[in-house]
Amino acid sequence: MKAIALTRYLPIDDPESLVDMDLPDPPAPSGHDLLIRIEAVSVNPVDTKQRAPKPQTEHPPRILGYDAAGVVEAVGDQATLFKPGDEVYYAGDVTRPGSNAQLQLVDERIVGPKPVTLSFTEATALPLTAVTAWELLFQRMPYRFDQGSHGKHLLIIGAAGGVGSIAIQLARLAGFAVIATASRSQTSDWARSLGANHVIDHRQPLLPQLQALGIKSVEAVLNLADTDQYWDAIGELIAPQGHVGLIVEPREALRIGDPYKAKCIGIHWEFMFARSRFKTADMIEQHRILKRIAELVDAGKLRSTLSQSLGSISAANLRQAHQLLESGGVIGKLALSGWN
Ligand SMILES: NC(=O)c1ccc[n+]([C@@H]2O[C@H](COP(=O)([O-])OP(=O)(O)OC[C@H]3O[C@@H](n4cnc5c(N)ncnc54)[C@H](OP(=O)(O)O)[C@@H]3O)[C@@H](O)[C@H]2O)c1
Repeated sequence: MKAIALTRYLPIDDPESLVDMDLPDPPAPSGHDLLIRIEAVSVNPVDTKQRAPKPQTEHPPRILGYDAAGVVEAVGDQATLFKPGDEVYYAGDVTRPGSNAQLQLVDERIVGPKPVTLSFTEATALPLTAVTAWELLFQRMPYRFDQGSHGKHLLIIGAAGGVGSIAIQLARLAGFAVIATASRSQTSDWARSLGANHVIDHRQPLLPQLQALGIKSVEAVLNLADTDQYWDAIGELIAPQGHVGLIVEPREALRIGDPYKAKCIGIHWEFMFARSRFKTADMIEQHRILKRIAELVDAGKLRSTLSQSLGSISAANLRQAHQLLESGGVIGKLALSGWN
């Protein structure tokens, strides 16, 4: 099969950092696995973090890639959720060979039925970020999608990126008033177009901007950007008994004492690969989340967060996607589709 893989971990401007290769097909699926023919992939910061330069080498070559949309080719003997020919989308498993290949094995319990109203390219933009936002808001934090969080204010820091673009939409559907942060006119406009009630600038002090909107404090915060950078500001602007959701590993130890202790703030971590990595008993939750997301898309309540298609799935196009993500300025999601 065609695949894009690496043997060395190199800076992205090195043509050897991601290479077009012809690699053996995966074995026939067993157990809960599905064999998927990949039609489209999207790229996330985790792809660039996994590829970051280091002295290690890989033999056989390592295939990266997490978000994918494709068609089921074959199913394992314990698979019950899908059959050959089904169109699916998923965010994969960081411990297994990835989606930057024509064929991939993936456990059906972390796979969802692709939204029928979306193309493979539009669909592949969603799984990793939608699972992240859903698990964080509705399974780690104490909010429930169907129970409504009417009147509560949610601040989303770094809202125009991949995770923020779906988090804004889910939070609005769940009844939050959403204050998004963005630092450029394009990202502010994008956040508003996805439903943010207000947009403030994360390059300026946050609390005075909230106060200028007449908001004294917020009940909930999602920090989707640098955890260390906004920690003190969140402690200042969050309401007593509020909740903060985090997804980015801090560089230093976080001070979880006052004001967090004095205000009795709930601190919630999300890592969307935790269920697949530790094979938790409830890993089928990711199948359920992706199915629910597909239903919401097909009902016209959520839209794809795809902002740019970068052409076919090739090493050159994938290197461009990694380069754009490493710049930190991506709006929504980038995707690649089809094989030349
Ligand atoms: N734990 C998990 O399960 C999980 C899952 C998904 C992602 N993540 C991590 O979460 C982070 C965000 O992921 P993503 O896919 O949303 O990233 P992304 O798409 O690359 O985010 C890009 C956006 O981030 C904003 N941004 C850049 N630097 C910022 C800063 N210092 N403060 C606030 N906003 C900033 C930019 O907005 P402006 O141009 O307006 O500044 C840009 O639009 C990444 O570190 C990723 O690895 C973790």
